[in-house]
Amino acid sequence: MNSTVKVVPLERVPTPLLAVLVGALNGKVPTSLLALDDLLGGAMGRAAEHGDFTGERDTVHVFYAPRGPRRVMLVGLGKLIEMSRGAVRRGAAVAARRALGFGVESIACHVTHEFRGGVAPAAIGQVLVEGVMQGAWQFRSLQVATDRKPPLKSMEIIATREERPDLERGRSIGHAMAIGHKLARNLQALPGNICTPEYLATIARQLSKAYGFKINVLNASLMEKEGMGALLAVARGSTEEPRFITLEHKGAARSAPICLVGKGITFDSGGISIKPADKMEEMKYDMSGAAAVLGTFEALGQLKPPINVVGIIPATENLPSGTATKPGDVVRSHLGKSIEVVNTDAEGRMILADALSYARRFKPACVIDAATLTGAIVVALGNHAIGLMGNDDQLLAEVRQAGELAGERCWPLPMWDEYREQNRSDIADVKNSGGRPGGSITAGWFLREFVDGFPWAHLDIAGTAYTDRDQPQLSKGPTGTGVRLFIEFILGRARG
Ligand code: BES
Ligand code: MN
Ligand code: ZN
Repeated sequence: MNSTVKVVPLERVPTPLLAVLVGALNGKVPTSLLALDDLLGGAMGRAAEHGDFTGERDTVHVFYAPRGPRRVMLVGLGKLIEMSRGAVRRGAAVAARRALGFGVESIACHVTHEFRGGVAPAAIGQVLVEGVMQGAWQFRSLQVATDRKPPLKSMEIIATREERPDLERGRSIGHAMAIGHKLARNLQALPGNICTPEYLATIARQLSKAYGFKINVLNASLMEKEGMGALLAVARGSTEEPRFITLEHKGAARSAPICLVGKGITFDSGGISIKPADKMEEMKYDMSGAAAVLGTFEALGQLKPPINVVGIIPATENLPSGTATKPGDVVRSHLGKSIEVVNTDAEGRMILADALSYARRFKPACVIDAATLTGAIVVALGNHAIGLMGNDDQLLAEVRQAGELAGERCWPLPMWDEYREQNRSDIADVKNSGGRPGGSITAGWFLREFVDGFPWAHLDIAGTAYTDRDQPQLSKGPTGTGVRLFIEFILGRARG
């Protein structure tokens, strides 16, 4: 989608749809919209007065204008005290979803000055683009059906002359963020028979070519040479060959990189410890961490921030077969620790163990992994927060702050030693499941066994990577979780 910032009075914007984001109106039109209300013959004032439109979150009211914008749509953001980047992003997404409903090809957006709270113009520009592109996202590449509404092709941000440069600066960040977010969602949406480990490698190669990233892709025999016994133990059951992908963005000379690791299980059947059939198709989303890393690199390629970033993606299927790893098998990891595989469905932590161990060679400033790691995190936090764990309180605070800016809330879980005990094995250094109690934390502790000498944060995105119902600001399906958080984190570090 194309996005621009335009300086023009609201009542004169030539657009099929002008979305005006407002907070609680309390029965009257704010001063900055009086000229627009004049165009509508006072209809906006009457809708406010009668309480037909109050400005409540996620509500809209549409007016038809005799000239200028064809439609004027008020979009409610809620109370002024709740105004934030998140509220504006959400309002923009709601507006875009409505725009799809009208079948218009472009939308103009404006956040009324009276309702901006403390959100600065640059942030407004950024989240308007993020929101509109999130709301306009549709995945239709696997359908021939013609009854769908046409896509939204362009958006304009309507500005005053003074705020234009700031809005434009934010717009370009938002645009990079949004196309990375879109790539992640598209990859997530693809089924396991299309989005294979080699497919993820192909996307990484395309990013490398488009933006000049250094790339390295290991096949199974190279992984063997590397000693990645944990990853290979998961891959054994499948005829689809695994891939171990690294991408490098060099934005600064000789400085320790941020390492991003993404779980790339392109389908998780559970392996020999097979999952129940119900909803098993959702396990195509088990590469959502990998999608977040690839989406982040798309945005990095656009933004080219002055900082080094390494992306690491261990990718494989997890299937049962005559060659598959069996419960009770013991394997040797890349770090050297032996692992008793008591449950082949606890495969994510196996492939991440080798990836975290591999990350050492980059001498990282920090490592953050994103993984749809445990069903237990959905029990603990539902679909409203990422489970956050790690070994460095300062890093965790920084990740959490990035999540707040990104609209991706993280909630910390404790990593007391007692949880670590649950992973003790009778015959190996560690076993890959600590049982049901505290399942997300014992999974986190398993990863921590393979973190050697760097600050590390773990994001359990199993509850947030996809949604099984349509929401006003987000359609059913993949959510692109992780991309915005990663970018905000990176931009925060680049600013210093
Ligand atoms: N990919 C799943 C976790 C998951 C569950 C993601 C639900 C999204 C939605 C992971 O590989 C898994 O199977 N975890 C097991 C671990 C258990 C066997 C210790 C789980 O959560 O049940
Ligand atoms: Mn599993
Ligand atoms: Zn999994």
